[in-house]
Amino acid sequence: MAGRIRDEDVAYVREHSPIDDVIGDFVQLKGAGGGQKKGLCPFHDEKSPSFHVTPSKGYFHCFGCGVGGDAINFLMKLEHLTFTETVERLAERIGYQLHYDSTGPSQNSGINRSRLVAANTAAAHFYQEQLNLSGPAQVGREFLTGRGFDKAAAETFAIGYAPDEWDALYKYMSGIGYKDDELNLAGLTKEGSRGGLIDRYRNRLVWPIKDISGDIVGFGARKLAGDDKDQGPKYLNTSETPIYKKSQILYGLDMAKKEIAKKRQVVIVEGYTDVMAAHLAGITTAVATCGTAFGDDHIRIIRRLLMDDDAFRGEVIFTFDGDAAGQKAALRAFDDDQKFVAQTFVAVEPSGMDPCELRQSGGDAAVRDLIARRVPLFEFAMRSVIKNYDVSSAEGRVSALNQVAPLVGKIRDASLRPEYIRLVAGWLGMEVDTVTAAVKRVAGKSNTPLPDKPALAVNLKDPLLMLEREVLKVKLQVAELAPQWNEIEENAFSYAPYAALRSQIDALPEMDIPTLLERTEDEDIRALITELTVEPIRTDGEISEHYVASVIARLREVALSRAIAEIKSTLQRLNPVEEEARYNEIFGNLVAMEAKKRAQKDLALGEI
Ligand code: GTP
Ligand code: MN
Repeated sequence: MAGRIRDEDVAYVREHSPIDDVIGDFVQLKGAGGGQKKGLCPFHDEKSPSFHVTPSKGYFHCFGCGVGGDAINFLMKLEHLTFTETVERLAERIGYQLHYDSTGPSQNSGINRSRLVAANTAAAHFYQEQLNLSGPAQVGREFLTGRGFDKAAAETFAIGYAPDEWDALYKYMSGIGYKDDELNLAGLTKEGSRGGLIDRYRNRLVWPIKDISGDIVGFGARKLAGDDKDQGPKYLNTSETPIYKKSQILYGLDMAKKEIAKKRQVVIVEGYTDVMAAHLAGITTAVATCGTAFGDDHIRIIRRLLMDDDAFRGEVIFTFDGDAAGQKAALRAFDDDQKFVAQTFVAVEPSGMDPCELRQSGGDAAVRDLIARRVPLFEFAMRSVIKNYDVSSAEGRVSALNQVAPLVGKIRDASLRPEYIRLVAGWLGMEVDTVTAAVKRVAGKSNTPLPDKPALAVNLKDPLLMLEREVLKVKLQVAELAPQWNEIEENAFSYAPYAALRSQIDALPEMDIPTLLERTEDEDIRALITELTVEPIRTDGEISEHYVASVIARLREVALSRAIAEIKSTLQRLNPVEEEARYNEIFGNLVAMEAKKRAQKDLALGEI
């Protein structure tokens, strides 16, 4: 049974996988001077190369989209693999035989992930075999046929049947060597009321749920018709286990991930049968949550696949069972941060059919049409509100306008508002000015300020910020040349991300980029680290001690000037007669600071 890859082996694979070789398998790299290489970024569309690789450091960074990291990160991101899978791939690439610790660290009394995955996989096989037996499984097969799924479809999705017995699975799993605590931990069994373990799913159709890498981590199990003994919910899902976290699971993602990345589209449907119907109909980007709402973790997973950083151009399309559900969800979007609203669409079948039902009544083409007819989220919400009114009458139009105007007012992106005002005017058959006035009226009443403050634009080309950046680069790339780092004043970095990076660096026992990345949780700061590790240092000549000393001195001079200005303003507010002691103390500080500043200035000038 495979466990954790030995640390020495991970280190060996890392060492023997030069980053330019690994990336070179996917990206054409050219020399870019200064020991750097560059090419077209595989994570976003670009025409001129902004994807840089620094082989001597082992890092890459794209200045276009901000993605960066080491060789392992590269492969993980590009191929959507887990860390373990990536190391396995790299080992294979260099023909190295990995060793696994079967006794590797594990929080669960020696039961590790692979053991739990193996248990789920064995259970899935058992259930799948049961589905083909005569007897009660017949009802399960009929359910599938009734939903438009043939035998091949059932096999593609590895659907199974949990027998109508107390402990059929338990007996089978015990027989092949699984222990009670393993089965309970995997969520396959539970304690019965008379002692002993009983199966969690009985007389249900079961869908194995895979994680993004294709490992079976849990099940969704549907109650079958005519089962009056089953008081449980229609769908019963695996409860939280060490390997099944429902907030992070999307059913179908293992099949859909490549297509999602390729088509820059993801279709979120509401159930297991909808995922099946969509895929069979050619909507290969469909996934569903498993018995939970679509949440922040799901968004993060999707964003990663759509390869966006700040500018992703993918489409997230939600389908809902019916208008009511869709409208409720869409209206909620006005209260969210609206960050991805421009990429969010809704596809609802007017008759309220879900993709599975739609496929049965209208065939595969009907499902594809549904997705093709998606509308932007805001449009969907507004039109569903308007639909409740009879806009052929003046009263109806005015009532509808009163309902829709606040929604337009809630659109955060000010540039979108005039556009929606025009659209609403069209849907209602009213003058644009009338709608504009209504929106202004409600906006005036609401306490949320209408025009969004534009994010404080920071000009990174500002010479002072360039200097801060240069010093960080020096520290990351040639720390051995920068012993003066420790003397740099507290207030030296004025740009918040730079200051944050400085604190992260100072928290390390010694400068080491892998450790720094490991200990930095903030994604933006991590991106900054790889960016600054790879960005060329701005000197025309050699990266010399002189150069390093001079940029640090210049930064310190600026920081000291800032501190001096503050001290001076404090002094101005003090009365030298009434507060003599304090005044003299601060004045003394000022003189010392001025001297320090002069020294740094000389250093900076002398060395450049
Ligand atoms: P059928 O009614 O089986 O054709 O499937 P459906 O997928 O259309 O069912 P429905 O639209 O009612 O539910 C959609 C999804 O919501 C399901 O696939 C489940 O993931 C989830 N769901 C529905 N009912 C329950 C329930 O009782 N408990 C839990 N945990 N999830 C449910
Ligand atoms: Mn449904």
